[in-house]
Amino acid sequence: MARATYRICTLPGDGIGPEIMAEGKKVLAAVGTRANVDFVCEDHLIGGAAIDATEGTENPTALPEETLLSARASDAVLLAAVGGPKWTNTDAGKPRPEQGLLAIRKGLGLYLNLRPVRMFDALREASPLRPELLEGVDLVIVRELTGGLYFGEHRRERDVEGAGVGGGKGGFASDTMEYSEYEVDRVVRWAFEAARRRRGVVHSVDKANVLETSRMWREITHAIAAEYPDVRAEDLYVDNAAMQLVANPAQFDVIVTENTFGDILSDEASMLTGSLGMLASASLGSGTALYEPSHGSAPDIAGKGIANPLAQILSVELMLRHSFQMDDEADWIVSAVRSALDDGWRTADIADDATPADHVLGTVAMGDKVVEYL
Ligand code: IPM
Ligand code: MG
Repeated sequence: MARATYRICTLPGDGIGPEIMAEGKKVLAAVGTRANVDFVCEDHLIGGAAIDATEGTENPTALPEETLLSARASDAVLLAAVGGPKWTNTDAGKPRPEQGLLAIRKGLGLYLNLRPVRMFDALREASPLRPELLEGVDLVIVRELTGGLYFGEHRRERDVEGAGVGGGKGGFASDTMEYSEYEVDRVVRWAFEAARRRRGVVHSVDKANVLETSRMWREITHAIAAEYPDVRAEDLYVDNAAMQLVANPAQFDVIVTENTFGDILSDEASMLTGSLGMLASASLGSGTALYEPSHGSAPDIAGKGIANPLAQILSVELMLRHSFQMDDEADWIVSAVRSALDDGWRTADIADDATPADHVLGTVAMGDKVVEYL
């Protein structure tokens, strides 16, 4: 049989991005060798790195055209992280790293973001939640990714009459939350399909007691729920969902929600696993799928070699599963990560007082460990 070749557009980005990307690639290459598949990775610029590289040109940008073109032409995109204090500003006219992320999501039509919260038994103690609350936790957040507040109109005005402190002129800003029916329908439908393959429960999260977008979301969800009588569907207000996630996380199977709510709830949910450094994500839609850790670029620890590469490595797992239908190989990665953790290996973020110093690994050593257990 001819050896399969897949082209991966790799986007290391900023901060710890290049360090964890190297470990993701290492694991991918090891899987490729064992599975007799060639993964050809090609690095491209995004985020602050792209802004620096295009500075002084006519079009300084966090997403160069050639990155988007390469992403479109690839079989999958693997991204690490973008952003950092160097590029943080409140000036609307200046490019910001996060624009690169939003633009590539939009540019590839990736309207759905999947964030599976998978528990590793060995990490129960690393979670700030009591271990007994984590019994049976296995949920996935389906986040709408190209609509809502993120992509509605953003406006900023200065010197608006009556907006100032004390009644005079002052600043005014607005962001618009917008959804069309088809945008809601496709992610909610996906969530119900996913629930059918899992434990058959969907929690749809909204703020229908206040927001019109949520009331439409709820109507659409109820109509879809009627087509899935085998799936139990529940509505939850987002504030209640935030509370339930820490009070009784095991009740959840599939949580489906709009963009901003999903952003917030997924960071919260990551703490069930012990660290934001464990949460991978898949962005799916009409174009090439993109895989990335849910965490950011952690500029405070960048360059120190101590970042946790596991969310990046688990993003490779999601890539194998969703883009290449390599479920067995994806399972190898999960087992390898599980074995490494079971044997007590930790990065600093998931270590505790009980972890012997010689079991606290740096980024590269943790990548090596996962390869060793593959
Ligand atoms: C995420 C991140 C991004 C988001 C930021 C970096 C723009 O927080 O992927 O969750 O808000 O979507
Ligand atoms: Mg986020």
